[in-house]
Amino acid sequence: MSSSQQPHLVVFTGAGISAESGIQTFRAEDGLWADYRIEDVATPDAWEHDPETVLHFYDQRRNQIRYAKPNAAHNALANLEKNGFQVSIITQNIDDLHERAGSTDVLHLHGEILKARSSVDSRMLYPLPKGGIRMGDLCDKGSQLRPDVVWFGEAVPRYSEACEIASTADLLLVVGTSLAVMPAAMLVDLVPQHVERIVIDPAAESLGRSDIIRLAMPAGEGVPMLTQHWLRKGHLWVPETLYPHERLN
Ligand code: APR
Repeated sequence: MSSSQQPHLVVFTGAGISAESGIQTFRAEDGLWADYRIEDVATPDAWEHDPETVLHFYDQRRNQIRYAKPNAAHNALANLEKNGFQVSIITQNIDDLHERAGSTDVLHLHGEILKARSSVDSRMLYPLPKGGIRMGDLCDKGSQLRPDVVWFGEAVPRYSEACEIASTADLLLVVGTSLAVMPAAMLVDLVPQHVERIVIDPAAESLGRSDIIRLAMPAGEGVPMLTQHWLRKGHLWVPETLYPHERLN
């Protein structure tokens, strides 16, 4: 039990929770990494050799996100918090859909596309310049601004904070992530041993984790189903009988 004595739901989300809002995931057949090479747009090397292409890539991501709206899954989590549940969200997503839905405790493990940061000091964050980041937009140390996004090959500055949050979970809900990227995916194994873990993802079975309750359904269906159950009960109880055929060990 977390220190506040109120059961603590920790939710770990990935691109799949925003898929029903029209934001492309990464590793699907029609995902972003089918259209772009990671090494061309999402590495320090890409930034060094072709920053304009990198900025253009994130301009496009930002446009997609600006026109998207939170979906039933984001809304259900926000509603749970509004009803007095202690809900901490750790997201790999760079979009702001959890916040726009109304969630207040959101940690962005891989950064936030709607912020700019110094390219020499990851702690120096700036509001996004009007019209997006352009070459020549500088931080206070005189270095080029870049998107506040963690690239492949870079350290994840907020990882230890996320680990601390995970360690206080009474229940872990994982939504819409392939768990393919480290160290983020390790969070699933950093909750205390007795803590129940539930994954909601249409591809949940392919995760091959028989130690986790797997709900093979879209986030927009699975998350509201669970949160309604908790709201009715008034607590985070997960009855075995609710998913008898899903538990496979
Ligand atoms: N509801 C829930 N899950 C869904 C839905 C949906 N409607 N649609 C797709 N998914 C699932 C897919 O089955 C897949 O397991 O979302 C997952 C998306 O996986 P990835 O594309 O790998 O995205 P993610 O896990 O968030 O990627 C992690 O990789 O490229 C980097 O930095 C990027 O943060 C990202 C990280």
